[in-house]
Amino acid sequence: MKITLTVNGRGYELDVEPRRLLADVLRDDCGLTGTHLGCEHGICGACTVLMDGQAVRSCLVLAVQCDGSSLRTVEGLADPGGEPHPLQRAFSAEHALQCGFCTPGFLMVAAEALERDPAIADKPEAVEAVVGSNICRCTGYEAIRRAVTRAARECRGSE
Ligand code: FES
Ligand code: FES
Repeated sequence: MKITLTVNGRGYELDVEPRRLLADVLRDDCGLTGTHLGCEHGICGACTVLMDGQAVRSCLVLAVQCDGSSLRTVEGLADPGGEPHPLQRAFSAEHALQCGFCTPGFLMVAAEALERDPAIADKPEAVEAVVGSNICRCTGYEAIRRAVTRAARECRGSE
């Protein structure tokens, strides 16, 4: 099937088999390998991307379901000039990653949460919900929690 996607502001016209997952199309057809696959059945969140502004598990979405959608992957998180997103800076500053395999998914689910509610910095339970939605096997989550809170504070301060 022929589909049209906008990914990180760039248009793609693709011919894909209906059975193919969004994650595989992003990686293999669009060359955007920042989106990682862990469990491939919706549990770990490593594959999280934004679809029309909403966080989705791209291992649970067929590419054909995204026809006409606007997608954002971790490659689209920095600003067009290459300045890292506050979340990327905070993950670095707080040492919120080790192997980094899960990191793109955490960044994208946190980006959606920050955009939806910049006041998340004052809501530890909301940060907890963001961090708890994905699986990291390395860091123990505390540093990720600190990084999301730090980035939220920065975003709130710049408003
Ligand atoms: S790879 Fe999609 S949720 Fe784990
Ligand atoms: S940093 Fe390795 S799985 Fe999260």
